[in-house]
Amino acid sequence: MAANIGSSQSRIDGRLKVTGDARYAADFVVPNPLYAHLVTSSIGKGRITAVDDAAARAVPGMREIYTHFNHPAIQPAGFFGAREGAAQQGWRPLAGPDVKFYGEIVGMVVAESLLAAREAAAALKFTYQSETPAATLDAEGVELEELPDKAISVGDVEAGLREAAHRISHTYTTAPNTHNAMELFATTAHWEGEDLTVYVPSQWVKGFQSGLAKNLDLDENRIRVFSPYVGGAFGGKGSLFSWTALVAAAARDLKRPVKLYVTREQGFTVASFRAETRQEVKIGAQKDGLITTFVHKGHELCSRPDTYAVNGTKSTTRMYHAKNIQTGVTVVHADRQTPGFMRAPPETPYFFALESAIDELARELNMDPVQLRVRNDVDHDPVRGVPFTSRSLVECFKQGAEAFGWPKYQPEIGSMTEGDELIGWGVATATYPTHMSPCAARVVLDNIGEARVQVASHDLGTGAYTVFAQAVHNKFGIPVEKVRVDLGDSRLPPGTIAGGSTTTASTVSAIGMACDRILKRLGAQEGKLDPQAVLESFGQSSIEEYVEWEPSLEGGPGEKWAAYAFGAEFVEVRINRFTREIRVPRIVGAFAAGHIMNEKTARSQYLGGMIWGIGHALLEISEVDPRTGAYANANISEYLIPVNADIQQIEAILVPEVDDKVNPAGIKGIGELSIVGTAAAVANAVYHATGIRVRKTPIRIEDILPDYS
Ligand code: MOS
Repeated sequence: MAANIGSSQSRIDGRLKVTGDARYAADFVVPNPLYAHLVTSSIGKGRITAVDDAAARAVPGMREIYTHFNHPAIQPAGFFGAREGAAQQGWRPLAGPDVKFYGEIVGMVVAESLLAAREAAAALKFTYQSETPAATLDAEGVELEELPDKAISVGDVEAGLREAAHRISHTYTTAPNTHNAMELFATTAHWEGEDLTVYVPSQWVKGFQSGLAKNLDLDENRIRVFSPYVGGAFGGKGSLFSWTALVAAAARDLKRPVKLYVTREQGFTVASFRAETRQEVKIGAQKDGLITTFVHKGHELCSRPDTYAVNGTKSTTRMYHAKNIQTGVTVVHADRQTPGFMRAPPETPYFFALESAIDELARELNMDPVQLRVRNDVDHDPVRGVPFTSRSLVECFKQGAEAFGWPKYQPEIGSMTEGDELIGWGVATATYPTHMSPCAARVVLDNIGEARVQVASHDLGTGAYTVFAQAVHNKFGIPVEKVRVDLGDSRLPPGTIAGGSTTTASTVSAIGMACDRILKRLGAQEGKLDPQAVLESFGQSSIEEYVEWEPSLEGGPGEKWAAYAFGAEFVEVRINRFTREIRVPRIVGAFAAGHIMNEKTARSQYLGGMIWGIGHALLEISEVDPRTGAYANANISEYLIPVNADIQQIEAILVPEVDDKVNPAGIKGIGELSIVGTAAAVANAVYHATGIRVRKTPIRIEDILPDYS
């Protein structure tokens, strides 16, 4: 295939989606449902001392009120962060009177209509004994927990820093963020006898199924989790929601299907979020720019009971040359909900720090920031000494620089202006590790030339349906339209979690393996198959293969390779000299990620990631009110994300790369690659324009005010 990039194929589910025919979780019709509404705490820490439900019980149509006084029997599902389960948090809701954070689930009302449920929920009176929460990284009363298993130590960083010709040492912070997928969280539970069907937007139907089985003490096979379409997830729908079992238990109690949707505001606290971080970076370098020493330490906010950290130093230490390396991660237990994954969970915050620091080092060295990164490119993982399966970082910088016009860069601060606009250019590296997980798949080919693929994978809007159809097309040569793809159903062969950008590499490898077995059984050649003729010669109307694929590069000390995708991003900012308004008129990213299945959907992923990165740099923050621990902007009018007017020229270059080691399909994950580094590129451009180094996200007007004195 030309340049190892698959054809631009429009989404096979595109028409269904734009015509409204694609069914999302809340769209499924169940017979005679009841409606549930969550009640969340209005204090940030304390105890529930009483619940007065008289007025709520008087609301016509009210059926049941659940609080910790009468919670349904639910067993723990195992906390995902501890790698032993599927649940988003380590405790179940309504377990007791203690309130751990603002907006925690303290009740659920079930009624004959949505309005009755909401009315009754509003009439429910909780009395609290309230304490002042410690809700932010620096609040008095937070507890620190160092995670020794996340620490890396190579060489001698103290000597390295002492002997370095140039060194920098700075602290960077990143803001808490909320996923805010367009599709709200929703859950419908429908029992038929002992069998439960749950309609829920999910990045992991198999995980939801096994977690729910534990919650409800049921045989897994009695539970079907159905999630054929997901209206955006971004990590927020990856682990089992705490209320799913509540809804299922209520449906069992009340012997009717129960439908719940979570309001936008509740979605800010009842599910996960991207935790705020504070990171310390120290770099020592030789005169020629070669980095000798790298120290990166992170503090990450978490809830009181759980220990969850993303730890981006696993990736930041793999980027550049260094012989002395030290990292550490400290969890800050605060009165907030348990955080979780959000796009490129570790890399997004940690590369804001790393790539800002590299820019600061370039200034210190008086060296071009692209040249500095090229100077420190490595062909082996600096921590473990193992080679990369492929690494095209320098090529990405070359192609990105050319497309952006980087040779015209004038490094002096404020040297590029136009009228009242201060122009700044910034650059940063993007990277994302290639994660893969065991994945099963079933492929059926019939003698009228149609194929069917079945796997409990997910399409979050990423193009997975289309890419899987292309995988079959590539093997059998039958048209993409003749391939039917079934996803998002726990009854299908077990797929991977749609997180960590694992889906395409894992699932296409499994589908490819099933197709290869069919080709072999039929004695046919890849891409050249006449299903009718071949199957008839075997006297069969169809042929089917079920496979279980396992990646051979999975972690552990025996790992022989480092597998990452890479990119380079170039940003122009324009800042009004007087108002200090920051705009990003231009961004160019060049990315290499092995075999690309579909040029069109891949480009969309890259553009989306860069847009998200601009949001991360300039707009997104879940504002914590330190007095209550509440998010002050828990809605999408005040939680800002980039809109069309914020994005002007945006270009993604697909740099060809062949990787014959990473997996049989040669595919690296791309879903989260292009968000990484963007925020630093913006911050570096802001520095170039203004001379003001902003070491936090988001960067706002008030951070770059000129000195008026
Ligand atoms: Mo993505 S944050 O790994 O769902």
